[in-house]
Amino acid sequence: MNAAGDLHPARIAGRCASQRFGHTVVLFDAVESTNTAASALASLGAPEGTVVIALRQTAGRGRQGRRWISTPEGSLVFSIVARPGREPQSLTVLLALAAAEAIEPLVGGAAIKWPNDIWIGGRKCAGVLAETSGGSVVLGMGIDVNEGPDDLPDGLRRTAVSLRMLAGRTLDRGALLVDLLARLSSRYEAWERGGFDPMRPDAERLLLWMGEAVEVDAGGGRIDSGIVLGLTSQGYLRLGDGSGERIIAAGDAVRAPRPPWTSRPGGGSGERGAR
Ligand code: BTN
Repeated sequence: MNAAGDLHPARIAGRCASQRFGHTVVLFDAVESTNTAASALASLGAPEGTVVIALRQTAGRGRQGRRWISTPEGSLVFSIVARPGREPQSLTVLLALAAAEAIEPLVGGAAIKWPNDIWIGGRKCAGVLAETSGGSVVLGMGIDVNEGPDDLPDGLRRTAVSLRMLAGRTLDRGALLVDLLARLSSRYEAWERGGFDPMRPDAERLLLWMGEAVEVDAGGGRIDSGIVLGLTSQGYLRLGDGSGERIIAAGDAVRAPRPPWTSRPGGGSGERGAR
């Protein structure tokens, strides 16, 4: 199979023809970033639901100015054009939820590391980068699907993992994308009708470190710490501390030693939904 064999755009679009996302699919051999390409197409009037896939990104980007490294044969990197009729702040978690639900049956577990990562067994396999562009929102995602251990970037071998490494077999990236887009389409339409709150329990079921102590780097030198209590109706993180509850709108969470003012109810497994 050539590098694009399982990412045939017409095959993917044909399977998504009747839904919100994926009815129009563009596959590039190489782009700077699929988010940039999708944003350019959105500004030219590409319909909502257009999906841009690339085999190679020359400047793939992650959150907080980080790079996103991918491989043509192993990775699934794509961006979706959305034109939401509501405030888009919960769309990152919404896409992470749809992705975790699509990944879970393939490898037996997947957890959402708030707000944008998918982790399995303590390692990251995917990330979301949502960016606004004019009146559109571009939802970008990179998933390590068929990489072998040697394909993962040097510094990330202990913290990253591919789905193939967990499933023990090569996976069809197109089939994964079709499943993910179907789940996202129905989640998104429910979100447009009723917001994030109705799906909050599903996201919390998959939330990494639920009931555990974390530190959240909110940028600008601000670090919040506390116990993960769950999510708000906007998809923000609820942290409990000795004096009450704090709502975190953005940041990067890392696990922390449990603060002394807490007791540990029944012990905790650490990662919900992960194996
Ligand atoms: C993160 O984990 O920080 C988010 C990573 C997002 C990477 C994807 S790959 C497709 C899309 N294009 C980009 O340049 N970034 C996103």
